Amino acid sequence: MMTKSKIITFLAALFLICLVFSHASPLPGKPVSYESDKAVVKFPKLDGKIIFTQINATHVKANGKLNKGILKDRPKEYFIKLASLNEKSFEEMGIKIKVPGTKEFEVASAGKVSQLIGLKLSILHKMKVLDSAKIKKDFLI
Ligand SMILES: *[C@@H]1O[C@H](CO)[C@@H](O)[C@H](O)[C@H]1NC(C)=O
Repeated sequence: MMTKSKIITFLAALFLICLVFSHASPLPGKPVSYESDKAVVKFPKLDGKIIFTQINATHVKANGKLNKGILKDRPKEYFIKLASLNEKSFEEMGIKIKVPGTKEFEVASAGKVSQLIGLKLSILHKMKVLDSAKIKKDFLI
């Protein structure tokens, strides 16, 4: 049989253990802010950049604009290539050209911002690479 004081000590210890554990591990169901997950890739030769934002658990949104180097209004001839994936034409991506650059564009696609960081993104005209840069975590936005 436990004495009354032992029971109180036991309950106090239990309470402390619960307190420590509830602070040590994040509680499940806590809302996650996807908006804070951003990355950016800058293209100095084309005077442009693309910003990637995590919009929900499964999708990434890319917002971008290029201001120079796109000399022909032929969206089938210009391509974006991510790492070793197949390149996609501006036309396929829905990117509109406004010589000498592009209009502002927004493309959503399945993926995670955290998995894009460190990958190389290239902009091509036909087979020629116009500019190429690595996607970086964006701390400033
Ligand atoms: C995430 O966003 C994309 C694009 O807007 C949408 O198609 C998809 O259904 C969304 N997924 C969830 C889990 O909300």
